[in-house]
Amino acid sequence: MKKWILILPLIYGLGWMVPAWSQTDPAIEAKVDALLARMTLEEKIGQMNQYNGFWNFTGPAPAGGEAANKFDNLKSGMVGSMLNVRGVENVRKVQELALQSRLHIPLIIGFDVIHGYQTLSPIPLAEAASWDLAAIQRSAKVAATEAAASGINWTFAPMVDISRDARWGRVMEGAGEDPFLGAQIAAARVQGFQGRDLSDPLTIAACVKHFAAYGFAEAGRDYNTVDIGTSTLYNMVLPPFKAAANAGARTFMNSFNEINGIPATANALLQRDILKGQWGFTGFVVSDWGSIGELIPHGLARDGKQAAELAVNAGSDMDMESYNYLNHLKSLVESGQVDEALITDAARRILRVKFELGLFDDPYRYCDEERERTMIGNSDEMDAVLQMAKKSIVLLKNENALLPLPKSGKKVALIGPLAADKTSPLGSWRPAADDGTAISVLEGMERYSGNRLMHYPGVKLFEGEPAFVTELQINETDTTGFAAAVNGAKQADVVVMVLGEHGLMTGEGRSRAFIDIPGLQEELLKAVLAVNSQVVLVLMNGRPLAIDWEAEHVPAIVEAWHLGTQSGNAIAQVLYGDYNPSGKLPMSFPRSVGQVPIYYNHKSTGRPDRAGGGMVFWSHYNDESNDPLYPFGFGIGYSKMAYSDLRVTRGSGNSITVQVNVRNMGKLAGEEVVQVYIHDLVASVTRPVKELKAFEKVSLSAGESRTVRFTLDESSLGFYNNDGHWVFEPGDFMIMAGGNSVDVLQEKITIQ
Ligand code: GLC
Repeated sequence: MKKWILILPLIYGLGWMVPAWSQTDPAIEAKVDALLARMTLEEKIGQMNQYNGFWNFTGPAPAGGEAANKFDNLKSGMVGSMLNVRGVENVRKVQELALQSRLHIPLIIGFDVIHGYQTLSPIPLAEAASWDLAAIQRSAKVAATEAAASGINWTFAPMVDISRDARWGRVMEGAGEDPFLGAQIAAARVQGFQGRDLSDPLTIAACVKHFAAYGFAEAGRDYNTVDIGTSTLYNMVLPPFKAAANAGARTFMNSFNEINGIPATANALLQRDILKGQWGFTGFVVSDWGSIGELIPHGLARDGKQAAELAVNAGSDMDMESYNYLNHLKSLVESGQVDEALITDAARRILRVKFELGLFDDPYRYCDEERERTMIGNSDEMDAVLQMAKKSIVLLKNENALLPLPKSGKKVALIGPLAADKTSPLGSWRPAADDGTAISVLEGMERYSGNRLMHYPGVKLFEGEPAFVTELQINETDTTGFAAAVNGAKQADVVVMVLGEHGLMTGEGRSRAFIDIPGLQEELLKAVLAVNSQVVLVLMNGRPLAIDWEAEHVPAIVEAWHLGTQSGNAIAQVLYGDYNPSGKLPMSFPRSVGQVPIYYNHKSTGRPDRAGGGMVFWSHYNDESNDPLYPFGFGIGYSKMAYSDLRVTRGSGNSITVQVNVRNMGKLAGEEVVQVYIHDLVASVTRPVKELKAFEKVSLSAGESRTVRFTLDESSLGFYNNDGHWVFEPGDFMIMAGGNSVDVLQEKITIQ
């Protein structure tokens, strides 16, 4: 029986939707005006200063030295915000100090609640693989609930940096390579964090970061130079930021990198012209950690005073931990180098958000010890992150239906250094979650199978114990664990190998020049395969890895990322078939690091194939394919999904209707992400060969067929020109639909 689904893609690129949040509340504006009128220049500057938590607040107050100055500044209204203050007791303590100031202005308390607070969701890149916006929004709500219950009212998330470079450690923190998927996810996460009422004590202000283009760091090296063209900036980088602003995000964070010669922190085009000007953003912009001071090593500022001047003129409202605003803004205003109106505007924006959070009504609104006891780690939160984790898993290969595993009747050996790891699944961005709090694969598999498993680590990942800050020494020599693992593999019917990256090998400051499975793990895999061909490789990683050897030799490969607290339970449910995997890759997997950056929405070039340039003179490598190992949008399940009957018809105006039939050919019910791509064949600015413009995750019972229907209008068929204006140009479009960005049905349509 056919069912129709009408999908209108969420508008993500256009500025014509005036978001409710960009209109301010007159009642709040009146309060902000009244307070500003009473504030001195120093007190306004104080709001623009953010300190990191700097002593054990429940211990003795600091006496003497820098901490004592900070302590005094806190009490005298010279601090507008603190970050990394955790727990109701500590937040109450610093709030009490701040309220001793002349005007009793409360602090806004920020924290990196990137993918959960104490109960961890999957890393954001994994969540993006779910393509399930409702699950992602629920995951963000869980994070907000736990953080708010702990006294926090502002998270430095969502990170919405598009990236095509798996060498960059922070790809784990974003939503991958596509601006449309990234925009939908950015909006969902903002709504999950902020809810409908920011004054609700279980919602927190979002912070969209890192504005902008941080993910385009050259060579994938963190903090490195970014030099991109206008078309890439407007069409690839900015759409997720715009979607987050339209979703009502109340703060932005700028980025460490320069863009075309101007560091983001001092970039007026980004912060004043686009964000606060064209987009009408009424919240505030916080610098990244010390990024105002970093204008000096960038070579833009000769000293801290000039750094402060450049940053405040460019629209950076709050100074995270560089002290340059506190040290220099007063004299810059008094000397006429900085207009006091800019200080007043920055303070206004910060006070506005504090009023919206309800902090002036009740500065202790987030300090409820009872909530802290009952709203962290409860069963609803555990269920939410388990559902999120299951949906984030991507099945990449399943030769001869090796998976799902039976729960009995087969002897299973579990091998690999990450198989019993209860910390790595938490990733590296989890300052409030203790080590060892994740369910390991071993625990999950034993729980779901009801059997005890033979388990062999096989090899240590590091020499010594990994420490968060120091460089990790990968074990390249010690194979003493191989023999036991190989012997265990000999005795098993099936081997499940859990290999990949330790949680501290991904994230900020964790770029890798080589993206193979690190250390001696691949050697261990080869040794196991030599004695048992029935191997399921479970990857635990924070970035696409170059696994071309594995893809050729291993019969089953499961991409399990770093899945958070419920990792082992989610992986076990997929391995044993309790959940039919439905994830789709949000980033292309390269065959080798030499192909990076590699992405599906690339341009054609003037010599896209041999026909254009003969045997040699066309865009290719002599020693590697142009194609990824696994493309954007790819993922299979235990049921084959078949596509047919693509139809593309004209709708009203310049809109088109796209419909396609998808059938579940398998014996198991399953979910499928139906994806729609376009190629604007000829335009005034060259367009990518494919652009994702709509998707829908549908559930199909065994044998069920469904016709899925989308409507694309100018907000999907257009693009930003090099003046930053959204334009739609009539002409020929190739429309494609399928279960990934390569295996698609296609039909050309002309819109005149
Ligand atoms: C870090 C990160 C940023 C984070 C901030 C506060 O350096 O770049 O994403 O929110 O500092 O921890």
